[in-house]
Amino acid sequence: MSRSAPVAPTCASVLLALALTACTGGVRGTPGGSGVDDPYFPKSGNGGYDVTHYDLNLAYAPDTHRLTATATLTARAAQDLSAFDLDLQGLDVGKVTVDGEAARWNRAGQELTVRPAEDLGEGETFRVTVRYSGTPETLTDPDGSEEGWLPTEDGGVLALGEPTGSMAWFPGNHHPSDKAAYDIAVTVPQGLEAVSNGELTDERSRGGRTTYTWHTGEPMASYVATLAIGDYDIRRSTTPAGLPVYVAVDPTRAEASRKVLARIPEILAWAEDAFGPYPFSSTGAIVDRDGDTGYALETQNRPFFPGVPDTALLVHELAHQWYGNSVTPKTWQDMWLNEGFATYAEWLWAEDHGGDSAQETFDALYDHGEDTYEDLWTFPPAEPPDAAHISDSPVYQRGAMVLHKIRQTVGDDAFRAIIRGWAAAHRHGNADTADFTAYVEKRAPAEDFGGVWEEWLYGEGKPGRR
Ligand code: TRP
Ligand code: ZN
Repeated sequence: MSRSAPVAPTCASVLLALALTACTGGVRGTPGGSGVDDPYFPKSGNGGYDVTHYDLNLAYAPDTHRLTATATLTARAAQDLSAFDLDLQGLDVGKVTVDGEAARWNRAGQELTVRPAEDLGEGETFRVTVRYSGTPETLTDPDGSEEGWLPTEDGGVLALGEPTGSMAWFPGNHHPSDKAAYDIAVTVPQGLEAVSNGELTDERSRGGRTTYTWHTGEPMASYVATLAIGDYDIRRSTTPAGLPVYVAVDPTRAEASRKVLARIPEILAWAEDAFGPYPFSSTGAIVDRDGDTGYALETQNRPFFPGVPDTALLVHELAHQWYGNSVTPKTWQDMWLNEGFATYAEWLWAEDHGGDSAQETFDALYDHGEDTYEDLWTFPPAEPPDAAHISDSPVYQRGAMVLHKIRQTVGDDAFRAIIRGWAAAHRHGNADTADFTAYVEKRAPAEDFGGVWEEWLYGEGKPGRR
């Protein structure tokens, strides 16, 4: 027979391969998952490894809108790995190495699959370097808002990443369950500012360009990583408690925002009293001009505001540093743990500063909340119907109402101890709704929370009694 046939592995060759692997001590891994089974964003994040550190080296040219970058991730294999995915949307990948050796890679949608020259063993620490470039994309969320890479009116850019936008500017394990430390170096034309998370550790100009180096030592979820490039007024100071403050404000908003931003130290002192020690090494804010985005975001250390914030919004975003950024949800289903707490922080601030009591705020919402928040009773806080609804009023306002129901059940002092204790118990970690209800029950064993959970947290429709 002269017809050629495809070469099929014989039993002998398979056995030989296995024997060789065994004899050379090589690891035979399997691919890590392309997601971590998030109920709302199944492709977000990746299985099989944990990132401990991101080293991002970014150069941005505003005239060509091009980003030229190298990302080096230090990670630990959680299983024997033959391949693993990173999330990266758009951009052109140049070269990928694992522990310095060229790796094969391919792309499909947001998945960048990396196949190292040698399999990685469970528990092994490895470094993956990705060189990439191009113009990052602006992404549209399921709820219609824009995130990712956002060009601003003054020719700069903003990077905002809730829930999935950070994959538009760097490859990573883009899910809140995998937090890591970061070093972000950004090179821009001299005269422009580049503001990011953490502390500015270096700033140097050479050949008409300036490199700003930012360090984030505490664990950070990638959705609160940020970058703001453009023309900003920078104000640096220190709180009475010794915390560095770095505020970057669009020059057209500098005057109008001065007074409210001056309250950051006072708000943090109040919040430390209410929520426990501030979880990070620096604070501040980024204030852009209205129109670039429609929303504020609790970017770590340094919340972002689309225009001059009022005090309530500043309180909200600073409260997220405890609830959201330090205690981070395990999945996007647990958003109410972020937004319910940050909203309740606004109620507590008002109560402690001569405004309505939280009880009054709760009563007004119960009686006619749907006049302001049409969708208030359309789904329970802990079970948004889909990804398009994770930032709706049942998550924010009704989420805060759940906390108030706990307060009604246990009383003021025990409630204050619970919200402080919750921040301490999961400081710099991840938690979900089941962790929260178990924690509350453990702290108040004599109380019955069944009705609060069933009606307020998980129940459909408006609860029958307030
Ligand atoms: N977390 C932001 C805040 O409350 C709001 C927000 C911005 C948001 N983008 C989002 C919420 C995407 C959910 C999804 O300040
Ligand atoms: Zn919020």
